[in-house]
Amino acid sequence: MTICEILPATDAQDPALALLRAGQVIAIPTETVYGLAGDATNGVAVARIFEAKGRPRFNPLIAHVADMSMAESIGIFDPLSRKLAEAFWPGPLTLVVALRPDAGIHPLATAGLSTIALRMPRGFGAGLIAALGRPLAAPSANSSGKISATSAEAVRADLGEKIPLVVDAGSTPVGLESTILKVEDGGLRLLRPGGVPAEEIERVAGRPVDRHRRGNVESPGMLASHYAPGAAVRLCAGEVGPGEALLAFGPIRAKDADKALAILNLSDGGDLREAATNLFSYLKALDASGAKVIAVEPIPMQGLGEAINDRLSRAAAPRDMPLARS
Ligand code: TXA
Ligand code: MG
Repeated sequence: MTICEILPATDAQDPALALLRAGQVIAIPTETVYGLAGDATNGVAVARIFEAKGRPRFNPLIAHVADMSMAESIGIFDPLSRKLAEAFWPGPLTLVVALRPDAGIHPLATAGLSTIALRMPRGFGAGLIAALGRPLAAPSANSSGKISATSAEAVRADLGEKIPLVVDAGSTPVGLESTILKVEDGGLRLLRPGGVPAEEIERVAGRPVDRHRRGNVESPGMLASHYAPGAAVRLCAGEVGPGEALLAFGPIRAKDADKALAILNLSDGGDLREAATNLFSYLKALDASGAKVIAVEPIPMQGLGEAINDRLSRAAAPRDMPLARS
C-alpha cells in the first residue's frame, strides 16, 4: 500500500516535480476540481493514471499546459479556438483541437485520437507545469464513475492508497469541471457544460454554441451514470419522501423538508456560482448521511445551472448500464 502524503501547495512544488519526473502520478489542485496528474509525454505515467482511476483506456485525458506556446506545440489552433483560448485561459475551459503529429504526447493519453483536449489551469498547476516544462495529463482525481474531488481530503479518501502525494490548496474555487468545446466546420460544439457558462462563450465567439450533439463517443466520459453517489438521486423534487435526504437550492423549501434525514442548501440566496462550488461536497455529505435517496430541488438552467443540472442528471442516471465513465 502506498503511503499518501498531503502537502500544502506552498511547500509542494519540489516534491511534486521529483515525483512527476520519476513517472509517478500525484493529485494537484486546479480552479475546477482536483486533478490526477502525470507527465503526458511519459507512457508509464499515463498508464498509472488510468490504473489509479480504474478508467477505461479508450477514454482520453485532458493535457494541461502552462502557456500558449506549449499549447501551440501540441495542438493546431484555428482562429476561433485561439480567440477563445485568449479570452478564457487560464481558466475552466478545455478546447479540443487537432493534435500535432510531433507533439510528443503519449498516444495512451489521447486514446489514439487525432484530436487533443487542452486546458490551461490557474494556480498551483500552472507553476508546476511551467517548472516541469511538459504538459500534464490529468483527469479529475476520483475513481472512475464517482464524484469529482473538490478538496485534498476527498482525494485521499478515494485514491489515497494508490498515489504518493496530494497537493492541498483548500477547496477548489469553481467546484465543477471545465467546459469542453470543439470548433467543428466553423461552428462551436459543447461537449461538456462546465465552469465557463455557454452564454459567456457565445458572447466572446459572437455565435451560438451547439448544445445538442454532445455525449457521443468523442467524450466518452459524458455518457450515462457518472458522478454517482451511493444513494439514488431524485431530481426536481417538489417534496421529500420518507427516509430521503434533501439537496436544497434557494430560499423556498420542498414540501416536508422538515422530515428529511439531512438537508444541505447549495445556496440559500439562489446563487449558482456558490451552488457549483458546493455541489460535489454536499452530494458526498448527504450520501454519508445514510439516506437511500437524495432528493434534489429544481435548479434553474441558466449560467452555471446548465453544468450543475448536467452533473445531477448523471448522478441520477441508472447505474446498471455498461457505459463509459471518467
Ligand atoms: O476541470 C477539468 O476539466 C478537470 C481538471 C482536473 O482539469 N479534468 C477533468 O478530466 O474533468 P476528465 O478526464 O474527468 O474529463 C475529461 C473529459 C472526458 O469526458 C473525456 O472523454 C473528454 O474530456 N476528452 C478528452 N479528450 C478528448 C478529445 N480529444 N475529444 C473529445 N473529448 C475528449
Ligand atoms: Mg472526471
